[in-house]
Amino acid sequence: MTTEAVVVRSTDAVGVVRPNESKIASIQAYLDRATGDLLASLRNPAQLSAEERRGIIARYAAVLEGNFIYWMTGAYISVGSDEARAKIMDNLREEIRDCHPGMMRRFAMAAHAIPTDADGEAVHRNLMNVRLFIGRLSAVPILVTMAFFEGFIQRFMSYLAELAERQGSAEMEYTDVHGVCDVTHTQELFRALEAEMELAHPLPEKDLFEGVELLRTLLQSIVVNTSVQ
Ligand SMILES: [Fe+2]
Repeated sequence: MTTEAVVVRSTDAVGVVRPNESKIASIQAYLDRATGDLLASLRNPAQLSAEERRGIIARYAAVLEGNFIYWMTGAYISVGSDEARAKIMDNLREEIRDCHPGMMRRFAMAAHAIPTDADGEAVHRNLMNVRLFIGRLSAVPILVTMAFFEGFIQRFMSYLAELAERQGSAEMEYTDVHGVCDVTHTQELFRALEAEMELAHPLPEKDLFEGVELLRTLLQSIVVNTSVQ
């Protein structure tokens, strides 16, 4: 998927090396590594207790149900290019038209994993850090963060579905819809990022990946309840 996106970019450029092309490739490599590390840290669902499985689903729902649209809206407000705006609006339209928060809630309910106060508290601090980061409305780091999330979620869905199945659920619309590996969609997202980078001053690496690191920490506190360790 990653390689294809880079190839398409090169073909578009018809032999002309664009200034941000290698930067995009290095961002993709960073995100692939971050996603790979996170997926490698997942514990085998068969070896988790029912409460541990419930907790992962519940903390995931506590974060995603009420925040994903907020994150994407922050991305929309912050970007300046028509390409990025159109891409994000497509995403927001789908989220609302197909009521993804409702899909998320049905998924959690069917797995008997509606978030409790303790689930909310377990992710609170790390979630706040991501919210505050989004609130700074800095377009390029937000788009990099959303690209990271997009890549992660596609590969995380089969794991989440297995947890739910082991909790006795057959309600898989949420994981089916979000588990599709859509190459075109990912390419468009990186094209939007490139368009946005053309408008922005180059950022130091630390600032470019700040949101990715905050989101990665948040996702870690979903897959392992770090508040009790
Ligand atoms: Fe969604």
